[in-house]
Amino acid sequence: MSDYIIEMLNITKEFPGIIANDNVTLQLRKGEIHALLGENGAGKSTLMSVLFGLYQPEKGEIRKNGEVVRIKDPNDANDLGIGMVHQHFKLVEVFSVLDNIILGVEPATKHLGFLQKAEARKKVLELSERYGLKVDPDAMVEDITVGMQQRTEILKMLYRDNEVLIFDEPTAVLTPQEIDDLMKIMKGLAAEGKSILFITHKLDEIKAVADRCTVLRKGRFVGTVDVATTSKEEMSEMMVGRKVQLVMDTAQQKLGESILSVQNLTVRSKRHGKPLVNNVSFNVRRGEIVCIAGIDGNGQSELVYALTGLMKAERGKVYLGDKDISHMSVRERNLCGMSHIPEDRHKHGLVLDYTLENNLVLKRYFDKQFSQKGFLKFNEIRSYAEKLIEQYDVRSGQGPVTVARSMSGGNQQKAIIAREIDLGNDLLIAVQPTRGLDVGAIEYIRKELLRQRDSGKAVLLVSLELDEVLEVPDRILVMYEGEIVGELDPRHTTAKELGLYMAGAQRKG
Ligand SMILES: Nc1ncnc2c1ncn2[C@@H]1O[C@H](COP(=O)(O)OP(=O)(O)O)[C@@H](O)[C@H]1O
Ligand SMILES: [Mg+2]
Repeated sequence: MSDYIIEMLNITKEFPGIIANDNVTLQLRKGEIHALLGENGAGKSTLMSVLFGLYQPEKGEIRKNGEVVRIKDPNDANDLGIGMVHQHFKLVEVFSVLDNIILGVEPATKHLGFLQKAEARKKVLELSERYGLKVDPDAMVEDITVGMQQRTEILKMLYRDNEVLIFDEPTAVLTPQEIDDLMKIMKGLAAEGKSILFITHKLDEIKAVADRCTVLRKGRFVGTVDVATTSKEEMSEMMVGRKVQLVMDTAQQKLGESILSVQNLTVRSKRHGKPLVNNVSFNVRRGEIVCIAGIDGNGQSELVYALTGLMKAERGKVYLGDKDISHMSVRERNLCGMSHIPEDRHKHGLVLDYTLENNLVLKRYFDKQFSQKGFLKFNEIRSYAEKLIEQYDVRSGQGPVTVARSMSGGNQQKAIIAREIDLGNDLLIAVQPTRGLDVGAIEYIRKELLRQRDSGKAVLLVSLELDEVLEVPDRILVMYEGEIVGELDPRHTTAKELGLYMAGAQRKG
């Protein structure tokens, strides 16, 4: 009998122009939590998709309990007891939680009889109890939180008696509390004998739950280590191939004049009476990074929408330098000197079906540099895109002509950052710029924010990540229920203190 429940041996998987997995080996022990670590684009999702039968590798073999198996599609994977929670969930929004869990398990489920359905419900409730996976079986998926959708996906695997569970970046979409819960759930699953493959970029999470960790870099296998005896620094060095500075050097800069000034801003949604942003005032000066901190949903998004022109404010003023921009359109604000790295890079950041080069000139194709008498100057656009790609290290399969959709999240984000920073504007608004990215990309982006500050720009950072809030900015403003409840100096603030403000347990004028 093999020590390993699953072995992926010398797997090679190619896509046009890129070798996503190059002779990769991964061995999963029964009952372990095995982390898969690597920068964006390292090939983690591809490797897991091979195991789940979504892709066929060009080379290599897969063994289960020592025996070679063929996994041609997800049904084969399921028959072998392999389940996967994808990076983007695959639930049917207009079905209930229960229906999603039992969907497709047996042909008869299309018209489940009353008794069969009652039995299915019983099994789901038992599983939910046993593993601490709280769900409301009758709620529609479109109405439930992301956390509950994820628990539904996990129940779906358990309902099928899967014993190998793949989690593809499960924490990227969760709140800190939900992440804690998920960590406990994963430990419980492993204690019950399930074998878990856990993709994450977060070294703290690996330290918290994983037994072993396999690292990929640019499609290649770097190594498998024991988590308990390997430091975070060692793992991140394996991942990026050089030493990473996990803590930023943030010397206070000389401050210049006020670039962004917000006065008594109030934003109200039409549906609810309560203001989402309530009488908020602050300013950001040349040479500083001000961070809006807070738990998700306390008005940060709406504040940014009002600042950038995506949403109308009910009251208050916004000045960019000495210009009143309160009533300007999004484009007018851009032209007045506002750059914006948006929260949702798919909705507001990129046109996914455009090429990388067209995305890079999205905000300035109408400049003289790029168009003349209504005609685009394609050569100019190409060489400008090549310059940015080089300068900001944006990696993709086919360079300027790569379709944005096919790029990894980190490289999509780098493209947005390149475009927004190269506009040369005085104000940069960066909303969760490192969300869901790997350590290498996070380090790069945080350093870029510091560089902007040091070159005399004003930076407004909105972040949910505690370490980012404490390490990057010069000043922290905490938002709670639409109001700024505290202004803190990150050099003299602990995570605990910050947490109290974020939870509304403390405030000062
Ligand atoms: N379906 C696909 N077609 C073409 N290229 C792809 C496809 N899926 C992934 N890639 C490329 O393969 C590489 C590895 O991607 P992926 O496995 O998603 O990385 P990770 O999950 O580690 O971020 C990336 O360069 C990505 O652009
Ligand atoms: Mg991935």
